[in-house]
Amino acid sequence: MRFTVLTLFPESFRMMEEYSVLGRALRSGLIELETVDIRQFATDRHGTADDYQFGGGPGMVMKPEPVFAAVESALARVPVEERSATPVALTSPQGDNLDQNLVNEFASAPGMIVICGHYAGVDERIRQGLITHEISIGDYVLTGGELAAMVIIDAISRFVPDVIGSAENVEHDSITSGLLQHPLYTRPAAFRGMGVPEVLTSGNHADIERWRRRQSLERTLRLRPDLLDTAPLTNSDRVFLAS
Ligand code: ADE
Repeated sequence: MRFTVLTLFPESFRMMEEYSVLGRALRSGLIELETVDIRQFATDRHGTADDYQFGGGPGMVMKPEPVFAAVESALARVPVEERSATPVALTSPQGDNLDQNLVNEFASAPGMIVICGHYAGVDERIRQGLITHEISIGDYVLTGGELAAMVIIDAISRFVPDVIGSAENVEHDSITSGLLQHPLYTRPAAFRGMGVPEVLTSGNHADIERWRRRQSLERTLRLRPDLLDTAPLTNSDRVFLAS
C-alpha cells in the first residue's frame, strides 16, 4: 500500500515515520509513505500556496495551481492500470466522517493520495477537478489536515497484511466486528483489591468465548446502542440482549 501525502508541512509526518507499528511497517516496506511539499509546485519563487478569497472575507484559500500540479505529478508515478482505483482524498471538516466502512474501502485500494487541507479551505476547483473523497475525522476543526491524514493512514495501514501481529487481531477488533470490545485483563491476577473474572482463569474456552461475547454485547448496548442496528448478531445474541 502506497500513501502519497501532499502537505505544506512534510516534516510533521516524521512522527509516523519513526515510531511504533507504522514506523516498523514503513521500514520493512509493508507500506510506503511519500510526503510531497505542495510549495515545491508553486508558480512563484516564494513557494506561495495560498491567497486571499475572491469576494473578500477572513482566511486564506489554498491555490489551485500548486495542488493540481502536485496531484498530477503524484498520479504520474502511479502505474497506469492503478490510477482509476487510486483515491485522491482531501482532509476537511466538511468531509464524510471516517468510519470503519470507509477505512475498509480505502484498504482495498492499491494506494492513496491524501491532500492535507489548510487555512480557511481550498479553492473549489480543487474539489471539482481532483478530489474523489473528502474526509473528516470528526465534528471539530483542527489547525490543519496533517493529523487527520495521519489518522486515516494509520487506520488503513492496520488492514495491510502483517502490519499488526496477525490477521485475527483486525478481525477481532472492536468496531470491525461491529461491537465494542469485551474487557481485557493481564497479570497480576490481584491488583489493589481488584481481581480478574474467574471464568478467564478457568481454562474453559467455550465459557470464555461466551463470557466475552456477552460482555461485548452488554457494553455495546450500554455505550453505543446505534452499532447494534448493523452488527452481525446471532439468534443467541438477540436472546441475550432481550433478557
Ligand atoms: N481539517 C481541519 N479539521 C479537520 C477535521 N475534523 N477532519 C479532517 N480534516 C480537518
